[in-house]
Amino acid sequence: MSAGCGNESRLVIQRPDEVRERDDYEAALWAGLQAQRRQIPCRFLYDERGAHLFEEITHLDAYYPTRAEQEILDDRAAEIVAACPGGLNLIELGSGSSRKTEVLIEALLREREELLFVPLDVTEEMLRLAGDALVDQHPGLRVHAFAGEYEAGLEWVTAHVGTPRLYLWLGSSIGNFDRAQAGAFLRRMREGMSSGDSLLLGVDLRKDKATLELAYDDPEGVTRDFIENLLVRANRECGTDFDLSQWRMRSRYREQAGHIEIHLESLRAQTVRFAGHGAVRFGEGELIHVEDSFKYSPDELAGLASAAELRILELWTDEAGRFASCLLRV
Ligand code: AVI
Repeated sequence: MSAGCGNESRLVIQRPDEVRERDDYEAALWAGLQAQRRQIPCRFLYDERGAHLFEEITHLDAYYPTRAEQEILDDRAAEIVAACPGGLNLIELGSGSSRKTEVLIEALLREREELLFVPLDVTEEMLRLAGDALVDQHPGLRVHAFAGEYEAGLEWVTAHVGTPRLYLWLGSSIGNFDRAQAGAFLRRMREGMSSGDSLLLGVDLRKDKATLELAYDDPEGVTRDFIENLLVRANRECGTDFDLSQWRMRSRYREQAGHIEIHLESLRAQTVRFAGHGAVRFGEGELIHVEDSFKYSPDELAGLASAAELRILELWTDEAGRFASCLLRV
């Protein structure tokens, strides 16, 4: 490993070397509202409040993916570690609270005394909180966190973290890309991987409409708050005057295409002021597209792996067959 972790501290937070152009919500929102199919890119869901609301979603009864994946990791941690031999370094994309990862860290530390864990996430506060707790609980662990976008983090890992590596991309985050983008992203990821590296990919599986629609429109209303937070954030950061009482989240499962589709719906004809740009008119019932969450069949998973030129080494599911953890190799 060549990441320069100081001996005095077992938690280091790394920021990108060059500050890339700021991902500008105001510009993206204005462009998205001018588009033929009105849209707000889902990456803007994760401001501080959004990140906390998403964490809350992962604890909901209705939102099964987190529990299903945790079940697989709890049951299979030893097998996963055994399938990835060598003194590997552990990398996690979009690590958030790293709650699910701990069982793998523990399994790895049963085999050896020291481990380097490199979580990548945009939310620095989350990295610090999770990293502090992990180094506190595991004396053999060093955490070298990267606070930035996936692409910058992966480039940094390729240049600075020794091989073999076990990459984790959990939570079916890949589902928020459409199928073509998902294959292209995995392919780019593969280009930074070496021959002994592995990727454990968490993927939500296709299932019945009722289970899916409940998971993405929970009775507690946390998903609604999470999605509608885009408008709260716009009013705070972009000079808009969205009236929250006149908008509502709409979430539905498109069975044939195999994805959840989430929109914000205008409840009446209205005009939203956009300081510095003008105004945007919405008709009653007009939709703004916010997020898709793609679900996979086993065949679609095989297609995804082959589009990225990765081999499926193992595929585990939870007992109810809701979620898959897929071990991929170059
Ligand atoms: C982050 N991502 C995998 C979540 C999902 O299930 O697609 C985002 C989410 N949106 C609403 N609920 C959860």
